[in-house]
Amino acid sequence: MVVEPKILGFICTTAHPNGCQAHVRQQIEYVKSRGAIEGGPKNVLVIGASTGYGLATRITAAFACGAATFGVYFEKPADGGRTATAGWYNTAAFTEAARAAGLKAANVSGDAFSDEIKNQVCERLAKEFGPIDLVVYSLASPRRTHPKTGEVFQSTLKPVGKDYANKTIDTARGVVREVALQTATEDEVRQTEMVMGGEDWKMWIELLESRGLLAPGCKTVAYSYIGPTLTYPIYRHGTIGRAKEHLESTARELDKRLSATGGRALVAVNKALVTQASSAIPVVPLYIAILYKIMKAKGLHEGCIEQMDRLLRDFLYARYTRVDDEGRIRLDDWELREDVQVEVEKIWKDVSTENVGELTDLAGYQAEFLKLFGFGLPGVPYGADVPVDVPVPA
Ligand code: NAI
Repeated sequence: MVVEPKILGFICTTAHPNGCQAHVRQQIEYVKSRGAIEGGPKNVLVIGASTGYGLATRITAAFACGAATFGVYFEKPADGGRTATAGWYNTAAFTEAARAAGLKAANVSGDAFSDEIKNQVCERLAKEFGPIDLVVYSLASPRRTHPKTGEVFQSTLKPVGKDYANKTIDTARGVVREVALQTATEDEVRQTEMVMGGEDWKMWIELLESRGLLAPGCKTVAYSYIGPTLTYPIYRHGTIGRAKEHLESTARELDKRLSATGGRALVAVNKALVTQASSAIPVVPLYIAILYKIMKAKGLHEGCIEQMDRLLRDFLYARYTRVDDEGRIRLDDWELREDVQVEVEKIWKDVSTENVGELTDLAGYQAEFLKLFGFGLPGVPYGADVPVDVPVPA
């Protein structure tokens, strides 16, 4: 099949197998160029391992620490005339590269929120991996079926307490417009917390612990976001921010528990980046396009792989793990630098459809977005007929 991007709103419904492979290889090369991380993890479980921050953490654990990695994710294989999802191809490429480098890699595609998948993963870990020394929790999902009650929760991206209007961008067309969002109901807040809060993370840790699958000194990390005051109404003070507060308080609870055996449970507050999850949030993609322009100009720009390399190298496996007053690792330190945010605010006031190409890094945003689906990578034969039915080794 000749695979071309088909963009519908903020998703791309096709993915290029060779392009995804090239994207994974780029990230592996970056990590290798940074050298080994001393004292890193050796047996790692990554929940949400196929794209974005989870994939980048898996690549860092494998290629900078020599870790065996078990990846859990929800992706679809190719079907008839449809390509597989990008995360499917990413995982196929990662697994091939890891095994070629003599590293153990195992995978399960399915609903990580379900008891069925949790049990399946634990059984395979017990047989094939033994106790885990790092559990990465990097899920981003619009819904969750509760494993005990069967209730289906939907997460929403809304302000809380007050209606909110601001600029947003249609990133595919480059159109800047006003978006008005109604305040969430209490039920929407609760549902978003149930999807993106910490309950499921805690269920994973409790189950792994009860099966004897947490090695002494095991660490676990989940990802959060804070961002600038500009996006507070839609992010930090919105429904998703409430869920992140829940995730952060779960980290403190799990940290008390794991520290009994010398372990840690931490939240890392990451930088805003183009991923499949972030492109769905109103207002934020315009902020990211501006942020990229400024951070690139200042030589501060990082992608998922640079952030996750820094997380493992400079924080989680450094001699001392620096955290903020609330116990969080801050990888958003450069994003939130005052000089960066002063410039973001200046551009935010002026940006419109007419000047968006000049004032922001919209072109960089669009290129990054396409890269998530394997398009626009050097050396990939985009005009050629390629097999899209690529297997992922279990
Ligand atoms: P992403 O969309 O690239 O990755 C989500 C992962 O979750 C994928 O591997 C997907 O297969 C998996 N997944 C989703 N539903 C699942 C399910 N039911 N069962 C199993 N796997 C499932 O998202 P991204 O951006 O990497 O997000 C990961 C975490 O990082 C999230 O907690 C997000 O809030 C956080 N974060 C993201 C930032 C950003 O700017 N992208 C910034 C700071 C934090």
